[in-house]
Amino acid sequence: MTQDAQKDSSTYWKKSRVELRAAGFDPDRTAKTTAVVTIASAWTNAHRCNNRVRGIADLLVELLAERGGQGLVVGAPAVSDALTQGTPTAGYSLVSRDVVADCFEIGHYAHHGDAMIVISGCDKTGAAALMPLARTNAFGLVLYPGTSSPGKVSFEPWAAKGTNLTIMDYAEGRAAQEAGRISAAELVELERNVMPGSGTCGAMFTANTMSTTAEAIGMMLPRGASHPADYDAASDIHADVRAQARASVEALYRLMEAGIRPRDIMTLRAFENAITTVYAMGGSTNMYLHLLAIARAAEVPLTIERIQEIGERVPLISNLQPHGPYAMTSLHAIGGVPVVMKELLRAGLLHGDVMTVTGRTLAENLAATPTLEEIGKQDIVRPVGQPVAPANNHISVLRGNIAPESCVLKLSGKTLEKGEFRGTARVFDSEADTMKAIRAGEIKPGTVIVVRNVGPVGGPGMPEMVMLTIQLQGRGLGEDVALITDGRFSGVSHGILIGHISPEAARGGPIAAVRDGDTIVIDPGQRTLNVDLSDAEIAKRMAEWRAPDPAGRLRPGSVHDKYVRLVSSAHYGCVV
Ligand code: FES
Repeated sequence: MTQDAQKDSSTYWKKSRVELRAAGFDPDRTAKTTAVVTIASAWTNAHRCNNRVRGIADLLVELLAERGGQGLVVGAPAVSDALTQGTPTAGYSLVSRDVVADCFEIGHYAHHGDAMIVISGCDKTGAAALMPLARTNAFGLVLYPGTSSPGKVSFEPWAAKGTNLTIMDYAEGRAAQEAGRISAAELVELERNVMPGSGTCGAMFTANTMSTTAEAIGMMLPRGASHPADYDAASDIHADVRAQARASVEALYRLMEAGIRPRDIMTLRAFENAITTVYAMGGSTNMYLHLLAIARAAEVPLTIERIQEIGERVPLISNLQPHGPYAMTSLHAIGGVPVVMKELLRAGLLHGDVMTVTGRTLAENLAATPTLEEIGKQDIVRPVGQPVAPANNHISVLRGNIAPESCVLKLSGKTLEKGEFRGTARVFDSEADTMKAIRAGEIKPGTVIVVRNVGPVGGPGMPEMVMLTIQLQGRGLGEDVALITDGRFSGVSHGILIGHISPEAARGGPIAAVRDGDTIVIDPGQRTLNVDLSDAEIAKRMAEWRAPDPAGRLRPGSVHDKYVRLVSSAHYGCVV
């Protein structure tokens, strides 16, 4: 639909008097509505990531009514990665990003909305939040339901982290208990304490990577990406979220008055600001897929190469999990993402002149944010001159004879001891087989685990290999074993990890040629990933390759059946 056709969109809704009356509205009152606002909300009571969304949607309806507006709630499925990872349904997670964006687009147009507030949440709902805003260009912004508060326990090594434990600590504790490194009672203590209430995974994992993206790109109000969801599981929405909801409604009306739409904000320079901020904070590799998908929706010419170019200039300055010790709410307590952005702006790493949903530029927004000197002693955000890790040590795009398009290496600030990792391949065609081998103690230091046929088509749905990386960490193998895959990783994952290998094995990518015992070389300096084989040998092996038979794998007409026919490679963001 064109923007002109949308102009008086809500007139259609307001004129549907008989329909409105039957639905419980007062048609005389709705005729005077100042704005019909789509409240795009992926709510479910099934998990802690999005279980506050319904309450926030109701709150927004009330706040809009105070301004004479009408909120119309549109739903969508909210997939929690924590509930699906490592299970047979993990392949529904990435697929849901595009389904959620479609649901919001459809609901917005079908109900004749003038504007849109998207309530984000778990990873894919966070990624999907910006897509319908970019597609429709309806006045709007993103509101984050909040991240989970951290907890603490009494035993080492976790006691030393203080009140900063997150779901990552529980997951690694579970693997440690399986490996006999902690007791069953200690695992229960972790389970009871890591998340006292609801909210997204509580550090710089994928959900907070995407909330940071929304704030840094200018589509969320300042300090909106880091607030806790609630006080504890039994309490109501956190006061900071309530304050953000009220401020978001006020901001929406200002945007409509000023005529500022999402595409006035989501420019290439704004994407560059988001990339810079997420790199500085040690965000998830999933950022690559989601930024490319959002950019396509906004018709911004962003490429994987440009993300690499922008990211490689940026030092890691936030000391958040998974690379550091702190939780997201620790950052919130000292001022949130604006504190990081102020430091980056002062270092000349951000464009200060871009527009944001406040109706002011980024530099204007940050004018009152305290500098690190003014904040004083803390170790959550460091100066650009004394970073947690220098530039070019977080995520890099590599290429090579088993990743001719690209792949992404996540080092999270670490440097490889010998400048490269050279190891012996153990090849698996599923996550489950890999898990069996790790649990059986078959994986020794010096191994490069190759997990293939788990890409967007092979998965299908490109599941996250996080349970494998957690097992490696829990067994103390995180620094001696590399894992490479055409699947993806969770933001929780850390170690020597390469994902998004493209083209994927199921589409005839040369990762399909690797065999047990081959030597794999990861060289971050050269930005290469290679198997030590001649081109002729790879070609010979690939001549024997056959595409996986879809029969029995994909039910006709199912979501995955449609997805594998449409999805692009990870190199292009797995867009459909
Ligand atoms: Fe939902 Fe991590 S599983 S935010």
